[in-house]
Amino acid sequence: MSAALIDGEAIGQRIRDEVKAATARLEQTKGAAPELAVVLVGEDPASQIYVRAKVKNTQDAGMRSHAHRLPADATEEEVIALVARLSADPQIDGVLVQLPLPKHIDEARVLAALDPAKDVDGLTEASAGRLLLGKPGLRPCTPAGCVILARTVTRDLAGAHCVVIGRSILVGKPAALLFLEQNCTIAIAHSRTRDLPALCRSADILVAAVGRPEMIRGAWVKPGAIVIDVGINRVPAPELGPGKDGAPKSRIVGDVAFAEAREIAGAITPVPRGVGPMTRACLLRNTLLAACARRGWPVPPGFEG
Ligand code: GUN
Repeated sequence: MSAALIDGEAIGQRIRDEVKAATARLEQTKGAAPELAVVLVGEDPASQIYVRAKVKNTQDAGMRSHAHRLPADATEEEVIALVARLSADPQIDGVLVQLPLPKHIDEARVLAALDPAKDVDGLTEASAGRLLLGKPGLRPCTPAGCVILARTVTRDLAGAHCVVIGRSILVGKPAALLFLEQNCTIAIAHSRTRDLPALCRSADILVAAVGRPEMIRGAWVKPGAIVIDVGINRVPAPELGPGKDGAPKSRIVGDVAFAEAREIAGAITPVPRGVGPMTRACLLRNTLLAACARRGWPVPPGFEG
């Protein structure tokens, strides 16, 4: 039997609608709406698409959006100065630095310039420390979205065996900690993991965040498992014929071989329309929470936990 599809687009839209309603209430009662600044350095095509979508979602939610685009040859000092200026700006509630940054810029130094109170991506040392310590705080958006998606299938994840493939700062490590917070038993797999297929087959919840197209095969999936595919990989698709420039068209695939895995899993996220929209929904949620904490506004109902 084919797995249930986890519709990240619809679930993300529901969260965005809730953020929009809460923002409208703040506008009425406090006379102000949260403001989010996004910093994009360089011309990475995928990052440009992500930032455009983030700006649009922010505006659609009734928040103010400020996009700062710097050229690929901007110096590290220029980027740090911009992040420091936005951190100090009392009008701005959230600051997001789109990653990856160009190679000559040290991401850690840039993130160190970010006020943790405005860290809506949950990537600063302070946010990561709070997550590790189990203290409330702004959580990284993509992993937070993964947990929300898994909980739409099974509300109580306690005791589930969760395997996260990938140990990045952006996804893998925080995802493991967030599933631990849900009382899952967690394992983080990486390039040195022995017998990855066997480890994957032990997972009630399998989170794939490796960035390698269709690496996770259907035979690696435990029957009935929840499969969350974080991968967004562009691959050539000659079967679609030539594009405008004569080169083969491309298509987006995840880290999981979807058609195979769908035959085995209990529930699975598609790519696209799975995890991606959840990242943006959680970003808006974090921006609302950051604004309330910073401005001393009460947390809107439904956003407490
Ligand atoms: N690049 C890819 N995903 C993300 C994300 O969630 N946040 C940031 N800042 N950069 C990204």
